[in-house]
Amino acid sequence: MPDTPTQPLPQPPALGEAERLARAQAFAAQLSRRRTVRDYAPTPVPREVIEACLRAGASAPSGANQQPWHFVAIADADMKRRIREAAETEERDFYERRAPDEWLAALAPLGTDADKPFLEIAPWLIAVFYERTGPEADGRKAKRYYPHESTGIAPGHAHAHAQPDGLPQRPAGPAAPRGALPAAGGGPPRARLPRAGD
Ligand SMILES: Cc1cc2nc3c(=O)[nH]c(=O)nc-3n(C[C@H](O)[C@H](O)[C@H](O)COP(=O)(O)O)c2cc1C
Repeated sequence: MPDTPTQPLPQPPALGEAERLARAQAFAAQLSRRRTVRDYAPTPVPREVIEACLRAGASAPSGANQQPWHFVAIADADMKRRIREAAETEERDFYERRAPDEWLAALAPLGTDADKPFLEIAPWLIAVFYERTGPEADGRKAKRYYPHESTGIAPGHAHAHAQPDGLPQRPAGPAAPRGALPAAGGGPPRARLPRAGD
């Protein structure tokens, strides 16, 4: 074994088979109630609730435990407006020029278009970045392993946490806000949310 400090996992609760099954079914039922929401009320959500959801995201597994993700939580009205403008510019280009007919046909039943008013109405926007390389403790740039997969799982954990807390959400693929944050003067910060036990 490597010379890395370890800590014992807490003992899992001793469950009978019926209880184990009931818990598994309850969790599946809870997750199956999650839905993508495309219309929001501007009801404020405390920052601590968002942080708890992101901590759930940061608890995800990652290739070589490199945690190659950055979450940026945005509540500032001016920044949300600039993100909406940049995203709508990008989306108009997508819907009117870049999108192949096949992709538009796949989207048609969802009724999505280039207008994104919810980007200003929702109390929080969470931008998720992945990194291909990242700084090591000694300042070297090191390659990240499975950054896409790891950064796909992390928001899933955050989503799973958010929905039971009654927070509606809408994931967006990279096509939506590509370039929006840099254009709006943002970008991933270098801070990490520690995982429990880290
Ligand atoms: C990677 C990814 C990208 C998505 N991109 C968009 C998007 O750009 N716009 C949108 O309205 N929904 C987007 N969605 C939401 C899907 O349309 C939605 O998950 C799907 O229709 C199933 O609906 P449900 O989430 O309510 O179960 C995206 C979902 C994922 C996982």
